[in-house]
Amino acid sequence: MNTSTVCVVGLGYIGLPTAALLASCGHQVAGMDVNPDVVETINRGEIHIVEPDLDAFVRSAVANGRLKAYNTPQPADVYMLCVPTPFHEGDGIPQPNIDYVLAAARSIAGLVKAGDLIILESTSPVGTTRELETVLRGEGVDVDALRIAYCPERVLPGKIMTELVENDRVIGGLTPEATEAVSEFYRTFVRGAVLKTNAQTAEMCKLTENSFRDVNIAFANELSVICAKEDIDVWDLIELANRHPRVNILQPGVGVGGHCIAVDPWFIVARDPDNARLIRTGREVNNFKAEWSIDQIKIAAADASARLDRKPRIACLGLAFKPDIDDLRESPAVHVVQSLHAQGYDILAVEPNIHTHPKFELATLETALETADVLVFLVKHREFLELPAVLPRSDAMTVLDLCGARAA
Ligand SMILES: NC(=O)c1ccc[n+]([C@@H]2O[C@H](COP(=O)([O-])OP(=O)(O)OC[C@H]3O[C@@H](n4cnc5c(N)ncnc54)[C@H](O)[C@@H]3O)[C@@H](O)[C@H]2O)c1
Repeated sequence: MNTSTVCVVGLGYIGLPTAALLASCGHQVAGMDVNPDVVETINRGEIHIVEPDLDAFVRSAVANGRLKAYNTPQPADVYMLCVPTPFHEGDGIPQPNIDYVLAAARSIAGLVKAGDLIILESTSPVGTTRELETVLRGEGVDVDALRIAYCPERVLPGKIMTELVENDRVIGGLTPEATEAVSEFYRTFVRGAVLKTNAQTAEMCKLTENSFRDVNIAFANELSVICAKEDIDVWDLIELANRHPRVNILQPGVGVGGHCIAVDPWFIVARDPDNARLIRTGREVNNFKAEWSIDQIKIAAADASARLDRKPRIACLGLAFKPDIDDLRESPAVHVVQSLHAQGYDILAVEPNIHTHPKFELATLETALETADVLVFLVKHREFLELPAVLPRSDAMTVLDLCGARAA
């Protein structure tokens, strides 16, 4: 098998597993990160992120000398950019921030040589790979001698080490030669199909995958709001509708979170706001669902307050952005809890997957069940599904299921 020297720029959830996997496949890997703590941790053979099996890959790759981390980019034949692509905060349509990608491109400009592969893996708006080329040209690089391509990452956190190998990959070069050469490189460590296209289609492909999920969840969330008004159990309804051979409705919840599905559709909307009408509405519907959830909790709290003649205690079950993980990024459940907390409600937050939270104290499930007047299911964690259908104090407690935990 052909092996290369590879410089992976950005050693987070995507870059570090990729670097460790490449090393395990025989490539000589220099990882590079601007965060010195990340570099030190990796060079001790340890990891700074939570991901099953990653520790064993990193420990072994560092021990056998195939992976070493640096604070500056190192000379290589292949450069892979795995840096963050958030959006700029502000009013109006969120605008993608590709500053990290362009900074990473500038940082390797002095090292690249004819024939090198330059691969962008960060989720990026259409046109970013071309901009990366423009930046390199501006730095005096002979870009016509390089093979530059976009290859989006589509792994599921929690299964990254498996999916990096098994998933099909889409490779979009700025030229057909670049597509071909980069595809060859991916075949050295990917068992899934390596699918060839051009750079802008590959960029759009990643954004399309996450927008598809977002729009489909928005449909379920919109249904849930309509059904609540009609006193129809939306989970029963969806189960029945899904018995149609060509219907497959997703599950509603308190919104959509995470750093991908809640973010990437905006990259399409920002570039073409006049035409991306459904995608924009999907985002807005999913964001609205969290506000609607807050209102439902406030109504339940007002009823409990009238019944008890005191301020009710509200227990919120779940903070993560989806079931059975510890990731709170862009989580609508966190937004709900924070908002109620800021409005002066007596809130107990229960999140079995984390130990502490910087903004509010966490309670155990037992304390919540013993002391809450209003019990709100925000995330369908497995611990909550094990609760009996009739809760111990349910006569004295209002139960509000916003994620289908009781329907399970
Ligand atoms: N995490 C996922 O599950 C996932 C899945 C698919 C796609 N993506 C995309 O992959 C990209 C990276 O995401 P991530 O989750 O790995 O991010 P991350 O925040 O975990 O890691 C990014 C790393 O890049 C470093 N960095 C920032 N600027 C740098 C620079 N100029 N040079 C070197 N290092 C730099 C940071 O210090 C950080 O360690 C993003 O575009 C993201 O949207 C992530």
